[in-house]
Amino acid sequence: MQPTLAARQHRAPTQVARLRLDELIAADRRKNEFLAVLCHELRSPLASIQNAVGILRSRSDVDLTVQHRMHALIERQVGQMTLLAVGLLDVSRITCGRLRLKRERVDLCVVVRAAIETLESGFILRQQRIAVTWPDVPVWLDADSARLEQLFVNILGNASKYTDAGGEIALSVSARDGDGIVCVTDSGIGISQDMLPHIFDLFVQADEAAPRSGSGLGIGLALVRMLAELHGGTVSAASAGIGLGSEFTVRLPQTS
Ligand SMILES: Nc1ncnc2c1ncn2[C@@H]1O[C@H](COP(=O)(O)OP(=O)(O)OP(=O)(O)O)[C@@H](O)[C@H]1O
Ligand SMILES: [Mg+2]
Repeated sequence: MQPTLAARQHRAPTQVARLRLDELIAADRRKNEFLAVLCHELRSPLASIQNAVGILRSRSDVDLTVQHRMHALIERQVGQMTLLAVGLLDVSRITCGRLRLKRERVDLCVVVRAAIETLESGFILRQQRIAVTWPDVPVWLDADSARLEQLFVNILGNASKYTDAGGEIALSVSARDGDGIVCVTDSGIGISQDMLPHIFDLFVQADEAAPRSGSGLGIGLALVRMLAELHGGTVSAASAGIGLGSEFTVRLPQTS
């Protein structure tokens, strides 16, 4: 028997509440998983640092090469932990509405070029070719160039991380319908249809990505979406499926 109109009207808010509850339960589970990963991420560099300090303190006659190696190790691990802390702080600042953009008139091409340069050594190391298509004229935005660079470093960093050595990355900058558009495609591991709607959520990582994620925690794309939206823009992802590469498109409103 069909439910009456009154019953349907009554059920709608209950269903909405149920969906909301499911979302909250899923978010809570992700947060718990995240805390477990975070503990691990903090424990292993701390253990390495402790070992290195132990070696340096154990004897006064530690070989100079060993000393240098231990110092480099400590520096690297501290750098990793700093990045982690900075990423988490950014997320919390944006979530609480405490991040203020330092807007100025910037050419999108200049920002994208800076992001590519930041990652250049990684592309070379992984023997990945990046093919870039530039527009003929500047694409002016009213934007925070440092934050936008951070956005593109995250997308391009993922493209490199989730693509095999020797793979291809392509990037295009264009303008259409009042938006500056950056499209990044890669020939990497791809994203399943099930995962696609969730990858911009905080702490979400696909199982396929785990072996490559390295010290990642699933923060990058959440930051990307928050930063795009703070600029009045959007970001979307597409993939034909696992093993078939991915495509990320960022749209940002142009200024005159
Ligand atoms: N270019 C890509 N190709 C395939 N999967 C991707 C790509 N970019 C992101 N993903 C998937 O989306 C997930 C979330 O990405 P995100 O950048 O937020 O986290 P992360 O790279 O795992 O860690 P972090 O960025 O915090 O260091 C990744 O774990 C991966 O599963
Ligand atoms: Mg990432």
